[in-house]
Amino acid sequence: MSQKLALLGGAPVRTRPFTSWPVFGKSEEKRLLRTLRSGKWGRLHGNEVAEFENRFAAAHGCKHGIAVVNGTVSLRIALMAAGIRAEDEVIVPPYTFLSTASAVVEANAVPVFADIDLDTFNLDPKAIEAAITPRTKAIIPVHFAGQPADMDSIMTIAKKWKLIVIEDAAHAHGAIYGNCPAGSIGHLGSFSFQSSKNMTSGEGGIIITNDERLAESCRSIHSCGRIPGGLWYEHHVISGNYRLSEFQGAILNSQLDRLEDQTTRRDRNGRYLAARIGKLPGIHPQKRPADCTRHSYHLFMLRIDAQKFGVPRAAVLKALQAEGIPCSAGYVVSLPQQPLFQNKAFGPYLPKVSAKLDYKKTRCPNSDLLCREQTIWLEQSIFLGPRKDMDDIARAFEKIYENREALRTSKASL
Ligand SMILES: Cc1ncc(COP(=O)(O)O)c(C=O)c1O
Repeated sequence: MSQKLALLGGAPVRTRPFTSWPVFGKSEEKRLLRTLRSGKWGRLHGNEVAEFENRFAAAHGCKHGIAVVNGTVSLRIALMAAGIRAEDEVIVPPYTFLSTASAVVEANAVPVFADIDLDTFNLDPKAIEAAITPRTKAIIPVHFAGQPADMDSIMTIAKKWKLIVIEDAAHAHGAIYGNCPAGSIGHLGSFSFQSSKNMTSGEGGIIITNDERLAESCRSIHSCGRIPGGLWYEHHVISGNYRLSEFQGAILNSQLDRLEDQTTRRDRNGRYLAARIGKLPGIHPQKRPADCTRHSYHLFMLRIDAQKFGVPRAAVLKALQAEGIPCSAGYVVSLPQQPLFQNKAFGPYLPKVSAKLDYKKTRCPNSDLLCREQTIWLEQSIFLGPRKDMDDIARAFEKIYENREALRTSKASL
């Protein structure tokens, strides 16, 4: 006999909170105080950011790291360093955070959306090939939720068409594709350290690369166009001050110490939960290809087929929350459908080509379907707890399935 749903007056599966975020401790405190007392608060004077850049790059299989103020600016700097010119085209997925595409516009280039795969939620290589034109100069694959995109196919396409690949690894700290850390496979990799991310300093970002010339260019652009050996007031390229502060560097050094252990835990828990709830009719956790050696589970993402599960997403979300499971629908509007793109509200960017662009004609049905009715997200910190936490989440899904008739016909689900 199944228990009554919490939404319908029963007892919730879970009353205790899950692991809260951010996780921090004595190590962050020590480094922050040391930075404070040193009086060296800017990147130009202290060692924290420099140390972090070296350690983060090395931990992700790269020689160079350039820390910047966030994971949006990192994408734009990467595009500029890669030589993207006005009105070049850059292929991006439609199912991602705004920045993957807005950074392209802010580099005065044209985002071209290629649809994602309905199982992996990452860029579909076939859609990339179909989107290539003589103006295409780069691809920005996103390792969505922390699962590496199909980088073998993407790098093969890039080689064939001589395209730059900038990995948007904002979700993928510590994720591994085959033997390669996410972010180290393309020409450049970009990460975010914004509050929700798997490592955080409140705000922040980094670009990593193994290419000496690209690294030099990123470094120059991130610091007012200065060059090594140049005068302080000598500026070589259009840019600004995008340097990270030493306080952020201090926190990030401590966060990096925690990353390996946290990523292992998230991956273990995420894999377990996917195996358990994937058995329920109509529940499709992000499909994990064999080459995803480690998923960083910035998000645990699944899609729900309401017909097979028996209840629409909105009701499932309500019922999960009532059972004590924090969750959301994630993006409810696919990027090309956002007013920004529909209205081409690009400010001073893309002055010539804008009139010819029409995002109303963009077709990304898989992304639309996920946004409109299918996705459910659970956030990364939930996956830092013990296996018992996963059992609670799985039980909540099972309970909802067992009570699907009662839920579907109840006013409480509206
Ligand atoms: C996929 C993706 N790319 C880029 C960013 C931008 O990072 P930031 O918020 O640090 O600018 C985010 C942030 O949410 C993201 O999710």
